[in-house]
Amino acid sequence: MIPDSFKQDLLNRVDIVDVVQRYVQLRKAGANYVGLCPFHNEKTPSFSVSSTKQFYHCFGCGVHGNAIGFLMAYASMGYVDAVKDLASQVGMQVPEPQPRSPEEAARKEREPDLYAIMEKAMAFYRAELKKSARAIDYLKGRGLTGEIAARYRMGYAPDDWQALKGVFPEYEEKSLVEVGLVVQNEGKRYDRFRDRVMFPILSARGAVIGFGGRILDKGEPKYMNSPETPLFEKGRELYGLPQARDAIRAAGRVLVVEGYMDVVALAQYGVGNAVATLGTATTPIHVSKLLRVTEELVFCFDGDTAGRKAAWRALEVSLPLAPDQKPIRFLFLPEAEDPDTYVRKHGRDAFEARVREAETLSQFLLAQLRSESDLRTAEGRARFVSMAKPYIQKITAPALRLQITNEIARLSQVGDGEINRLLELPRRPSFSRPAPRRAAYDAPTSPEWSLLTALLADLSLVEHIDAGRLDTERAETRALVAIRQKWEQSDEALSFALLIEALGGHPCLETILKAQRYAEDLAFEADAARSEFQHALTQIDLRHRKLELDRLRGRLSSKEDLVAFQEKNLAYKRLQGALPSA
Ligand code: UTP
Ligand code: MN
Repeated sequence: MIPDSFKQDLLNRVDIVDVVQRYVQLRKAGANYVGLCPFHNEKTPSFSVSSTKQFYHCFGCGVHGNAIGFLMAYASMGYVDAVKDLASQVGMQVPEPQPRSPEEAARKEREPDLYAIMEKAMAFYRAELKKSARAIDYLKGRGLTGEIAARYRMGYAPDDWQALKGVFPEYEEKSLVEVGLVVQNEGKRYDRFRDRVMFPILSARGAVIGFGGRILDKGEPKYMNSPETPLFEKGRELYGLPQARDAIRAAGRVLVVEGYMDVVALAQYGVGNAVATLGTATTPIHVSKLLRVTEELVFCFDGDTAGRKAAWRALEVSLPLAPDQKPIRFLFLPEAEDPDTYVRKHGRDAFEARVREAETLSQFLLAQLRSESDLRTAEGRARFVSMAKPYIQKITAPALRLQITNEIARLSQVGDGEINRLLELPRRPSFSRPAPRRAAYDAPTSPEWSLLTALLADLSLVEHIDAGRLDTERAETRALVAIRQKWEQSDEALSFALLIEALGGHPCLETILKAQRYAEDLAFEADAARSEFQHALTQIDLRHRKLELDRLRGRLSSKEDLVAFQEKNLAYKRLQGALPSA
């Protein structure tokens, strides 16, 4: 924990304009500075930096924050590194971390920094790669240069059951198991990754959160991945995202491929804007994360049956998230090719030509549905419409939905008026995707909103939600109640991916996605989320008590009533006093 006072001091001394200017060209415009937003692709500047407020804000995509936040987001630095970087610029010395309380100190003692462990393991694997002629030959044989291997921080896990013992004297500690580097089995401990080429998986901020390891020769499993750990949730992460950021911005497009090697091989051939899912199907989080950073999403799958199945799954996940103004497309490579083999055989230009010709979401959807019905017969056309129904109902972008509906009407020879009835479409989609513009700025200020954003930062808080006391008029309340219900209905632990999926088409999804973006912008740490949550609960409690007092005040008819009222009033005042004035 870096003390708040130091942080304040630091932010008072640095000038955010200087900090941003290291990376982004700015010009003065009135009281502020403006430039092209480095977080999304744009031609006219909507990125504004205020020297008086020491704040940056993009009116195009809604990102905002202070100097620390900027370094974290742009330069992919962790919080501590960002603070250190700024401090060194203004000649301040970052104080040694001070734990906040004895309990926290004790916890910190027990919990070594999991990120630091991963970073150290990565450094070890990288050093081992330099020493292993066999691993280097393998990578060279796959067409990779040292430069790309370094950019993706690739490494090699030696063929040794306890190689990590050399760098971790604390090999016996539970944290190595916790981050998935060491396996504990029947009293024995050994390295999970042995004799494998290592692909570190970085978070959007550039911290190592997991690894994938590929076997050098033939063998099973071909790839081994970190298990789900406190740092790593497969369905949230995308391999290669920090490295791809600049290329995504330049191309205005991101490619989603299936494998680590696909990302790396494409980068080797100059196609830097690719990221990969991590051996899992595409999740709504993947899609919404990527739509935030780019103008166009192209899924790129192998041309085989598995590839088509994966693509269909990606389409289903994309339907509720597809915006009107950002196309989502699907590229199918020829049978038996993946992006890696394709780009090596045919080169960058041929690959990019294929990307430009990728099918649109609607083409893919309609072609698939058509292939399953015979449109020459009345029965086939009826089947076509009824099969299309669940998919169309999931689309939330109004213009996109209208276009596809019209196409279905044409193909099935149904009149415009009838098609909406057959597809059971409400006149307007159940929700429209919130415009990114100023999204974070017109956030509500209700305690329910605080509950929701804190909850999305830490879903385990769901059990503390008491629907009975919430303001039922608010959209945030409906979202909270829906989340609570999903939690009650499900046996699995709640995850954001699960939630978005379960709530597909639900009217509160808009609110949830907005709150999620808001929570992400705030980059809540778990502790901060909990205290925010607690604070909001207290505010709700206060509001509830106030209502009750007002009601009582109206009908005081006996001495007992008065005493009860005074007692309640005192409790209320006490609770109110306990709240910080903010
Ligand atoms: P592929 O089998 O398509 O591998 O798996 P690839 O990317 O073409 O790899 P190379 O070219 O043979 O080296 C695609 C992705 O699926 C996951 C990995 O994330 C891999 O990158 N996968 C695959 C596993 O997790 N485990 C496996 O055993 C295989
Ligand atoms: Mn491959």
